[in-house]
Amino acid sequence: ILRRSLSTTTTRNAIKNVTVIGGGLMGSGIAQVAAQTGHNVTLVEVNADILKKAESSIANSLGRVAKKLYKDDAKAVKDSDLIVEAIVEKLEIKHKLFKSLDEAAPTKTIFASNTSSLSIGEIASVTNRKDRFGGLHFFNPVPVMKLLEVVRIPETSEETYQALMAWGKAVGKTCITCKDTPGFVVNRLLVPYIAEAIRMMERGDASARDIDIAMKLGAGYPMGPIELADYVGHDTTLSISEGWHKKFPENPLFNICESQRKLVQQGKLGVKSGEGYYKYNK
Ligand code: NAI
Repeated sequence: ILRRSLSTTTTRNAIKNVTVIGGGLMGSGIAQVAAQTGHNVTLVEVNADILKKAESSIANSLGRVAKKLYKDDAKAVKDSDLIVEAIVEKLEIKHKLFKSLDEAAPTKTIFASNTSSLSIGEIASVTNRKDRFGGLHFFNPVPVMKLLEVVRIPETSEETYQALMAWGKAVGKTCITCKDTPGFVVNRLLVPYIAEAIRMMERGDASARDIDIAMKLGAGYPMGPIELADYVGHDTTLSISEGWHKKFPENPLFNICESQRKLVQQGKLGVKSGEGYYKYNK
């Protein structure tokens, strides 16, 4: 496991030292905005190639990255005020990580998960610091998207909540708060909306293009639902829907769209693979 520490200048915020676990799409963006706003950031990533990629994309925006290799988990989190987890969306893997972090991190360290579709309470359940646990749900691309959903579980202390809100503001985001409810605010509304648009297309009520034009010109949305689905990635929305469908089988809004499942099986994941419901030039 490689761990490297990124650029530093200190600020007067309560949270100064941040450890981001997972340097993929989201984690590298979270590390970047935190470093850009003067936090000491340590990025933990298990895959050396991904770490290199994250490092060079952050260095491109920051100009400078200090490199340091840590030998074990305890060292990577020993000074952390906040740990933001952005690893794979699998409960067992997040549990394993948080169990070990709970032992390695100091008492003061606040834990947060960037999960999109899992329950923060369930993730936190393996730790002994539920009062110092919350959700920090960023949006892709992190440096561009202004919103941060700050999620409170019933056990989250007022102090922890205030610290998370203040940190969100300090990294330049507009924070909203919600309970630990599936999909939080944005995905809970967006994923069923996209699914309804796909179902409309599957029934042949209107074409993809016409649905997209309708919602852009009729509802003032910057993107139509089908192009948005292609942009987000069908693997991502499908796995969110599958998780919710399994958990809440009685809710028809969480039903799986067959055409979307087929696209994923064919590797047509949307913009990132060059084809989804539309075709793209790679
Ligand atoms: P990703 O696959 O790009 O990145 C995950 C990274 O974590 C990978 O580079 C992987 O090597 C690394 N990793 C896995 N286990 C690890 C461990 N134990 N320690 C350190 N690194 C580890 O995934 P992405 O899209 O960045 O998603 C990460 C999290 O963020 C997920 O929980 C997802 O639900 C959430 N999220 C994703 C959004 C998106 O638009 N992709 C939006 C908001 C949240």
